[in-house]
Amino acid sequence: MSDIHGTGKECLDLMVKLNKELFTAESQILDIGCGDPGSFFYLFHSAKFNHYTGIDLNERIKVRVPTTHDQPIPEDLVISSDTTMYEQYEKYYKYVINNSDKLDKPSFQRTFRFMQGTAADDFLKQEEKLHPKFDLIFLSNLLHLIPDKQDSFKLFDLVLNHLGENGIIWIKVFVEEYKSGVYPYNESDINLIRSRLSIIHDAADAEKRLIIGKKKISAQQR
Ligand SMILES: C[S@@+](CC[C@H](N)C(=O)[O-])C[C@H]1O[C@@H](n2cnc3c(N)ncnc32)[C@H](O)[C@@H]1O
Repeated sequence: MSDIHGTGKECLDLMVKLNKELFTAESQILDIGCGDPGSFFYLFHSAKFNHYTGIDLNERIKVRVPTTHDQPIPEDLVISSDTTMYEQYEKYYKYVINNSDKLDKPSFQRTFRFMQGTAADDFLKQEEKLHPKFDLIFLSNLLHLIPDKQDSFKLFDLVLNHLGENGIIWIKVFVEEYKSGVYPYNESDINLIRSRLSIIHDAADAEKRLIIGKKKISAQQR
């Protein structure tokens, strides 16, 4: 089996590296543009959180179980259009986790909520009326897909409104030209994001920047 990949695994590795909790057993997590959320199943079984909401514009959220490329995908890993999220979780659990109590269906549905075919800003505008603030928000590899920088900053601000007072936001963006359809953040774009946050972690590799922070509280609000 190949390595587990994805933001949930990255979060777990970073907590170990920084020796810092980014969430607790009470935490409500929001993952905007979640893509493949499998690594959050892994995260849950490694360090419990209370609730995860994953939203994605894609009509069908697919969980890919890591397998080696040189082997055909086993029959029981094949996902069809009628495979439910719980069935996808069961497959992931069997092949990747399998060392702690598997969630039964009601517990899974209490813990994981998926909003497929949902645009981030529509969701956030609706959610304002429905949900308390989140403790940890992932905005990973999404902002740089928005062609207009002002729209992308607007989305960032909208997201910040949904972060609890002590909540943490995790932002990952491309800073280098990557391929068409990617609008990398330059240093001044990054500074704008940074200026709204009390920074917990800021790291760059050749292509991307990862910024983790809390909402900056102005002197008047203190
Ligand atoms: C590059 S993937 C990132 C997946 C995951 N967050 C990660 O970091 O690996 C971007 C995801 O954002 C979703 N997406 C793009 N625009 C969106 C929008 N406006 N609202 C919600 N999801 C969006 C895409 O469907 C895609 O699954």
